[in-house]
Amino acid sequence: MVPKAELHCHIEGAASPALVVAQARKYGIDTSHFIRDGAYFWSDFTSFLAAYDAAAGLFRTEEDYVALAEEYLTGLAREGAVYSEVFISPDHAERSGLSRTAYTNALGEGIARARAATGIEGRMIVVGIRHFGAPAVEDAARFAAACRHPLVSGFGMAGEERFGNMRDYARAFDIARGAGLGITVHAGELAGWESVEAALNHIRPSRIGHGVRAVENPDLVRRIAGEGVVLEVCPVSNVVLKVFPDFAHHPFPRLLAAGCRVTLNSDDPPHFHTSLAREYGVAATHFSLDESALRLITRTALEAAFVDEPTRALLLRALDDKTVAH
Ligand code: ADE
Ligand code: ZN
Repeated sequence: MVPKAELHCHIEGAASPALVVAQARKYGIDTSHFIRDGAYFWSDFTSFLAAYDAAAGLFRTEEDYVALAEEYLTGLAREGAVYSEVFISPDHAERSGLSRTAYTNALGEGIARARAATGIEGRMIVVGIRHFGAPAVEDAARFAAACRHPLVSGFGMAGEERFGNMRDYARAFDIARGAGLGITVHAGELAGWESVEAALNHIRPSRIGHGVRAVENPDLVRRIAGEGVVLEVCPVSNVVLKVFPDFAHHPFPRLLAAGCRVTLNSDDPPHFHTSLAREYGVAATHFSLDESALRLITRTALEAAFVDEPTRALLLRALDDKTVAH
């Protein structure tokens, strides 16, 4: 099995429908408006975000979040992943009635349990939610900067890309950068190449969440390749959300051929009927990546991971050592 690494997965979006239904039973909540026949259903990005919020609202206690992170990372390790970064959203926790600190500690505990059981290394990236507005994103950045949890290593922004202007969020990212956190930001998914350029100009991230619509502007693709900015590409998410009509039209191979540093990620796996293993499978089948090319994708992810250098060296050594692991 090719060793895998994931940089872009929203932890609440990774909750399986079965787990969410069990949570709903526990709290006496109806899920029929977003889960049917054991699967999430929604019709467009806006209703996807509503389903995401509804599922997130069913995780309410520390115990709930420990189980969520432990289940996701343990499963990921079974798919051959050696490393996982998950986006965590303190705003969603507060909406569920849990303090940001209790939420972060609980997810950290779940990650630690998965590591003890499987060896998978995990980190958390605090995200602000763009459509909650710049003050809320700055608040999330201040929390990320102050929380000092050893597994919180980055700050990012998710949510509705078509809301607001990137420059209005620059202060939030300056706060996070000042605290030594790695920086990533969603752009170029639902908004066009201009959103990627704005992210590079105003936020100065080392990674971009998605970024795939940069392909609309060849000069921008050259800039991304030249600056070594890493793209957290989520092919199945892009096709299911109709960013591209099918895998044949997905720009992953063009971005790779242009020298961009690309990685493979599952985004919100059960919502898109995917998994990290499926993303690697799509890259093999539709983008013609052989095993050594897939290993290079994992290497790029580990090189771009928000970890301390000794941990990165260990992970890269494990990648080189692993032939047919698991
Ligand atoms: N939040 C969860 N999934 C997301 C996505 N694919 N894009 C933006 N925000 C998100
Ligand atoms: Zn995302």
